[in-house]
Amino acid sequence: MPPTPIRSDRGDGMTERRDTLLRVRDLKTHFRTEQGKIRAVDGVDFDIKRGETFGIVGESGCGKSVTAFSIMQLIERPQGDIVSGSIEYIDDHGRAIDIAGLDPNGDDMRNLRGNDIGMIFQEPMTSLNPIYSIGNQIIEAIVLHQRVSKTEARKRAIELLDRVGLSDPQSQIDDYPHQLSGGMRQRVMIAMALSCNPRLLIADEPTTALDVTVEAQILDLMRDLQDEFDMSIILITHNLGVVAEMCDRVMVMYLGKVIEEGSTVDIFYNPRHPYTRGLLASIPQIGLSARLTPIEGAVPMMQDIPQGCAFAPRCPEAMPICQNDPPMFYPSAAQRAKCWLYSDEALTQHVE
Ligand SMILES: Nc1ncnc2c1ncn2[C@@H]1O[C@H](COP(=O)(O)OP(=O)(O)O)[C@@H](O)[C@H]1O
Ligand SMILES: [Mg+2]
Repeated sequence: MPPTPIRSDRGDGMTERRDTLLRVRDLKTHFRTEQGKIRAVDGVDFDIKRGETFGIVGESGCGKSVTAFSIMQLIERPQGDIVSGSIEYIDDHGRAIDIAGLDPNGDDMRNLRGNDIGMIFQEPMTSLNPIYSIGNQIIEAIVLHQRVSKTEARKRAIELLDRVGLSDPQSQIDDYPHQLSGGMRQRVMIAMALSCNPRLLIADEPTTALDVTVEAQILDLMRDLQDEFDMSIILITHNLGVVAEMCDRVMVMYLGKVIEEGSTVDIFYNPRHPYTRGLLASIPQIGLSARLTPIEGAVPMMQDIPQGCAFAPRCPEAMPICQNDPPMFYPSAAQRAKCWLYSDEALTQHVE
């Protein structure tokens, strides 16, 4: 079957623009540390379509969260900064706003965060304030971004808590975060993120801290809410089982770079990059082999990224060229993998 292009090229720029909600190009977010420069995100490109769920996967430390924080302009400054690239958010009128060029503390960014893009994090305790009731926190988020009275905001907060599945929102709205279970706190975080009816929800490891039963409930909830609120979701996870269940498309990151991207079906049934294959082989539910085979070695420190292909030192299929020259994307169609295995040049060398 011939590959279908990722970006629908219909010769009609506007149609394509309307389909796309977020367009990230050559994003670089670096940190200065005492140990040297960390290229946490280093030349990342991807598009998010309206209404889709887009997975970002990769081992810990590969730049998934920094990608998310860059979109929210929540990078810790001054040690970190978006040093180049663009993050275009296409609003409901088809206008592109380059988030990378906005002042992180300015009104435009605050409006985007409050009205267009919501985010939920792995550990709700770090983003819920322990000294305020959950109701206060949701009400404050609503009042800050919508012109409604406190009474109306409280009513809306109760509706939201009810929608995300709290059993007694009328009284639970006055609970403090520590009075709720982890799963309930994550539901509260979702309610807070949805209080502005965002077009894009970024969920960074939203279920990692939860047990599997609660995880399944939270994922179900997110799926229902996505239809109801007509949102796109960026789902960051190291759990490929979650990706299989939730995502339309997947992007695999390794050491600050995208190394493969494609539809979930393509990535699971025809993974091209040895790193992606390694990730798939190391999980129990969908392992390609009966025996689980974890990827050998550990993710190197960001300060010592190998030259050539960064995965080469751990790659079972590495060739001499991989040690020296960074690969490009082959092919650059619907499923793209950044690996020398797919270049004719590399194949020739392999034969020699
Ligand atoms: N505030 C920071 N200061 C310095 N380095 C950071 C900071 N935040 C993240 N990093 C580094 O950026 C890299 C990518 O981190 P992250 O995006 O959190 O990884 P992931 O979410 O994929 O596990 C890591 O090496 C991490 O140590
Ligand atoms: Mg992370």
